[in-house]
Amino acid sequence: MLQKSITAPIISVSGLSKTYENGFQALKSVDLEIRESEILALLGPNGAGKTTMISIICGLANPSTGTVTVAGHDIRRDFRAARSLIGLVPQELHTESFETVWATVSFSRGLFGKPANPKLIEQILRDLTLWDKKDNKVIELSGGMKRRLMIAKALSHEPRILFLDEPTAGVDVELRKDMWQLIHKLRETGVTVILTTHYIEEAEEMADRIGVINKGEMLLIEEKSELMRKLGRKQLTLELREPVEALPEALGRYDLELTNEGQRLIYTYDTQAARTGITSLLADLNRSGIAVRDLETSSSSLEDIFVSIVRDRS
Ligand SMILES: Nc1ncnc2c1ncn2[C@@H]1O[C@H](COP(=O)(O)OP(=O)(O)OP(=O)(O)O)[C@@H](O)[C@H]1O
Ligand SMILES: [Mg+2]
Repeated sequence: MLQKSITAPIISVSGLSKTYENGFQALKSVDLEIRESEILALLGPNGAGKTTMISIICGLANPSTGTVTVAGHDIRRDFRAARSLIGLVPQELHTESFETVWATVSFSRGLFGKPANPKLIEQILRDLTLWDKKDNKVIELSGGMKRRLMIAKALSHEPRILFLDEPTAGVDVELRKDMWQLIHKLRETGVTVILTTHYIEEAEEMADRIGVINKGEMLLIEEKSELMRKLGRKQLTLELREPVEALPEALGRYDLELTNEGQRLIYTYDTQAARTGITSLLADLNRSGIAVRDLETSSSSLEDIFVSIVRDRS
């Protein structure tokens, strides 16, 4: 653990701002440190600035202010060294081509000056369920296959860092699960993965850390488990035997909400607290003569947490 915290970040972003030519400010002084071999998920609504940030880190767009280093290489001064460590799967697909799948992926590796490695290309195509399409022309692929081809291209030069800008948009559920597996496998070999997604369950499933961007600002970045623990709340829903008009004063110390015309009581409690307070709440209800017919607990998902963060700050 300590070891991890003293390791230099593989990517360091500092004071990064971007104002487009039309005057629109898409990023506002973003600071971000990405650790080696973590999976970082970036969440944010449409237009938040995710693609802009990725494009700058990958050296495809210039920042207005700020710096980015990749494994110590400044992305502008040392572009080639920095870029050679990165595999990028862009959000927009540009794959209209009469080349075959095999040629496209092999060529991609060559572009980075790496020697041919048919075994590796085969493994990548198999991992992405594209092997039986290897001799097909790219224009003959479906949308989901094209997206997987983009991933194959990005992996062809064995990058240490992989950026996936909405990797699973348009990919069916089963293949999406295969893709998650592949990404986990890559991480085990030491690859650092940064992905953006609109599927919150994808972030919940995959990420070690989660960053939330809105309107060009990094609202928070945190370990997923910590985020869920800190912001996750649990609710206990109590169906009452008889409706009550108001809550007795004896119950004033609990966070309670009476709904459903007095038939339902919702108790919200903190998952971090040492005690949930459920036992004493039930005892106090009993003492106040309120009988409970049924009860159920539920916990907030990452989605609830995300929605509340973005709503509070907009
Ligand atoms: N070339 C450009 N010129 C002007 N404005 C741009 C340009 N590219 C992006 N923007 C604006 O910058 C903001 C951020 O866009 P960006 O593509 O980074 O968002 P995003 O978080 O990736 O959104 P999405 O989830 O829809 O992919 C948007 O308001 C967008 O309209
Ligand atoms: Mg985008």
